[in-house]
Order: sequence, then C-alpha cells, then structure tokens
Amino acid sequence: MIKNFFIGKREEDMMGKNFIEDVLSRRTFAIISHPDAGKTTLTEKLLLFGGAIRDAGTVKAKKTGKFATSDWMEIEKQRGISVTSSVMQFDYDGFRVNILDTPGHQDFSEDTYRTLMAVDSAVMIVDSAKGIEEQTLKLFKVCRMRGIPIFTFMNKLDRQGKAPLELLAELEEVLGIESYPMNWPIGMGKEFLGIYDRFNNRVEQFRVNENERFISLNDKGEIAGDHPLKLSGLYDQTLDEIMLLNEAGNEFSAEKVASGALTPVFFGSALTNFGVQTFLESYLKFAPAPKARNSSIGEIDPLGEQFSGFVFKIQANMNPAHRDRIAFIRVCSGKFERGMTVNIPRLGKQLKLSQSTSFMAEERNTVDEAVSGDIIGLYDTGTYQIGDTLTTGKDHFQYERLPQFTPELYVKVTAKNVMKQKSFYKGIEQLVQEGAIQLFKRVSIDEYLLGAVGQLQFEVFEHRMRNEYNAEVLMERMGSKIARWVDGETVDENLSSPRSLLVRDRFDNYVFLFENDFALRWFQEKNPNVKLYNPMDQN
Ligand code: G4P
Repeated sequence: MIKNFFIGKREEDMMGKNFIEDVLSRRTFAIISHPDAGKTTLTEKLLLFGGAIRDAGTVKAKKTGKFATSDWMEIEKQRGISVTSSVMQFDYDGFRVNILDTPGHQDFSEDTYRTLMAVDSAVMIVDSAKGIEEQTLKLFKVCRMRGIPIFTFMNKLDRQGKAPLELLAELEEVLGIESYPMNWPIGMGKEFLGIYDRFNNRVEQFRVNENERFISLNDKGEIAGDHPLKLSGLYDQTLDEIMLLNEAGNEFSAEKVASGALTPVFFGSALTNFGVQTFLESYLKFAPAPKARNSSIGEIDPLGEQFSGFVFKIQANMNPAHRDRIAFIRVCSGKFERGMTVNIPRLGKQLKLSQSTSFMAEERNTVDEAVSGDIIGLYDTGTYQIGDTLTTGKDHFQYERLPQFTPELYVKVTAKNVMKQKSFYKGIEQLVQEGAIQLFKRVSIDEYLLGAVGQLQFEVFEHRMRNEYNAEVLMERMGSKIARWVDGETVDENLSSPRSLLVRDRFDNYVFLFENDFALRWFQEKNPNVKLYNPMDQN
C-alpha cells in the first residue's frame, strides 16, 4: 500500500504540476565497480556533459589536487583509492541527475552499502579486459537484493579485452542477470572502429570528425551504399554477431530493466569519451525516477505532500577550512525547503533545517528546495545518526533500517598522550557516529575496542584522529573475532572470558566477541539460554 498523505485532494492541487515534473525528472544513481575499472573517468565525462564541470581532470583532481588538502584525503592520494562517497548533481536534457560516488575499496564497503540504499539505480562499470571482478560482484549482489535496476558500461574498448560475447556470458554466468546489449563494439583495441547502436539504429564511429560520427542504418540494420567502414572485415563480423544477438539473445524489456532482472549493456571507452553520451541518453530514458519506499507505516509515495528523507551518511571535516560535519539526506517525499521544521522520530524532537547545502561538482551551494531523489547536506553538530528519518506532518514513521555490518577485525585503542584525552574522546565519538568505524566497550573495565570490516579502516581512523582531532592513538591488534549480539537486555557479565569477550556496542547492547568458530559453538552449547544473533543476517 502506498502511504498517501492527501485526503480527498489530487496531488496536482496540493503541490503543483511542477512538483510532479520535478520529481519525475530525478535520476539518482551510484556507480559500482572494482577499483581501476574507470569509475572516476566515467563520472568526470558525465559531469562534463552535464556542464557541472568545465575541465577534464576536475574529478581526478579530487584524488591528487585541491580536495587532497583535506587531510585525510591524503590517504586516498597515497593509495590511489577513493575513500569517501561524494554526491554530484547536474542537469541534462530535462533531467536532474544525482550521482552518488562510492568507495571502490572493499574495506569501505559499509559506506558503499549505505549509499546504495539512497539510490534508485546503479551503473556497473566493467573493465572489458578483466571482466567481472570481485568487488563488482559483491556490490552487484547488494543491488540485486534490493531490486535496483542496473545498467552496465563495458569500458576500455580502446584496449584489447575479452570478446564481447564472452563478457555477456560472464554477466549471465557470474552475476546471474539477463543482459541486453544496447550497442555492440566493432573491433577493439587498436582496431576499435566504433559501436553498432542497436537501440538508436546507427553506427557511432570512433575517432572521426564530429560530422561523420553517426551513420544511420537502413531497415535491414546495415549501412546503405558505400562506406569505408564496410570494407573492414570487422563490420561483417559485427553484423554476424548482431544477427546472433537478434536471434538467440534476450529481448529488451523495460519491465525487466525496472525490476533489476535484466541489465542493458553499453560498450565504450570512458577515457576517450566514446559511447559515454550515447550511454547517458539511453540511461536517462530507462532509469527509474524515485519510487515509493518502505517505512514503518507502509510505502511512502515520492509525490506525497509531506517532506521526508533519511540520513545515509555523515561525514566530518569535508572542508578543512570549516571543519564542518555534514549529514547527507536522501529526500524521499515532499519538498525540502530551507528553514523548514522537521521531526526526528528517534529523538522525539523537532529541528529547524536552516543550514543546508547541495552538491555540485565544483562547489557547494546553499540549497533552498529539493524533492525526492535529491540529496541534501545538513550541517550537523552531532544531532543526526546514520539511518535517522526526518519527516514533517503528523506521521512519525521510520524508513527501513540501513544494512548493518558485523566487524571482523578488532583493535584495542588508547590515547597516546593522556593530556589529550578530550580530543581523543571527541574524535572517537565523531568518527563512530559517522560510521567510519565501530566502537565497543569492555564490560566492567574502562577499555575501548574498535571493530572494522577491513584493515584500511583502522589506518584511516588513525590518520584522521591525528589530522582532524590532534589525537595520536595507540592501537593494539586483537586479530579477527566473530561478533554476536545478545538478544535481550541482560546477560550474566561473568560469562565474559578471553575466548568469548563480553562488550557493549555504542548503543549499550551486549555483544560477545568470540575467538573463533569453535569458541562460538562451545559457548552456545554451554549457554543455550543466551540467544545470540548476527545483525548481518537481518540485512
Ligand atoms: P576508478 O575510479 O574506477 O578506480 O578508475 P579510474 O577512472 O581512476 O581509472 C583507472 C585507470 O584506468 C586510469 O589510468 C584511467 O585513465 C584508466 N581508464 C579509464 N577508462 C579508460 C578507458 O576507457 N580506456 C583506457 N585505456 N583506460 C581507461 P591510470 O593510469 O591508473 O591513471 P591516470 O594516470 O590515467 O590518471
């Protein structure tokens, strides 16, 4: 059931036709890929088309240039990985596009998974020489679980890679998703001549003058008359493959695309900006506008009158000049207006949203209005938590909980300098609230433990503590543990032992950290009354 806030009146009367058009024009997506597949390069090209940046190299500059002035981006620079998720917005052809960037490195998958909760579709980039890589597979599974429509961009066709049919087979075999090639490469690497565009019934030539770029096809799907391209054996080979696809391939189905059962596939080369515009235009046609979202009171209509949204990310110190902290909100219904008052059901409190920002690639602007699909940033002084719902009106509902992760690696953390305890605690509190790392406290002893999904999270933590909070930390490795939460509010604290360490998470819930699988099983046999669970099983 779609929760409708209107009583008797039609939507147009309440919010105006423009509002509906605005919501329907939103396309909000994330790019998922394995590091180095070309996410940054493709993002940059999309932003150039959208006029959001003027020069190539701007997004790259984030890795090495001005963004790196933000201290902890240094890590990103040193390791050449994208640690943070940022938001970029541009207008194209009547659409407003919001791209949510995600860190490709697996140690930051928590951040990525939360970001995927805030999008309506995903673009999957595959390096055509490498095929489906590990991190792509993991992220793909998350999208699949949520039924997010996925669009595939097979990148780096200017280099020799796997045969296109082999890549399609990988999509179906490794990912288990049906695919429909919207276009098909004519050669690759040094012999890359262009793409046969099945969808627009034309050939798009690689590296030719702009006026020769497109060649229309006749009703047989062939280039009419004489054309130098026809002299190449690759053209004939392409026609054969197209025939094969027409006869034996999947049929295009917009419904299947919308439900995430079929992925439209585009071939191109982000670096040489080839096939990117064609991809963008087709993507915008088929990608979904914001849909209804589940909440504690049923589905919430994106065209609903009351404003609502949820916090999917908190990031401190994005701009070292301001030392600010921003809560990222995905708007899910109604219209955000600067200065409006919202409820935060978790706090049972009302807040006036006066300090807000939108995200354009080169600058942050104050945002006065935003609708479903948009991402707004709210300056935060420690009020918000990841997963918080913000609403107006009488219904104090909560959006679905965001996926939770069970850390696998643990360290004991202390301040190096006892005189700096205050900044130590402040830093930990803020970074934990941001979701950068998870915090646990030993029972009966004043000891802090940190839990992470990947080792790099500890390194970023240490780096940020030093650079942003002026707090040097000592971290003592505890190795990997199996964490299980206690179902219930009490537990006998004497059950804690080195092999089954009892701690509390930051919400004071009891958690056992087991040394290994054996310790977990042994504990369960001995203490059948203690009910344990893994929060990841509920994702
Ligand atoms: P990522 O964000 O997914 O990690 O990948 P990124 O865009 O940074 O691209 C990774 C590398 O792949 C870069 O090269 C980039 O230039 C290259 N690349 C991206 N798209 C294409 C393409 O279509 N064709 C070819 N041939 N290369 C492509 P690099 O040498 O690591 O970095 P740089 O020195 O070029 O910046």
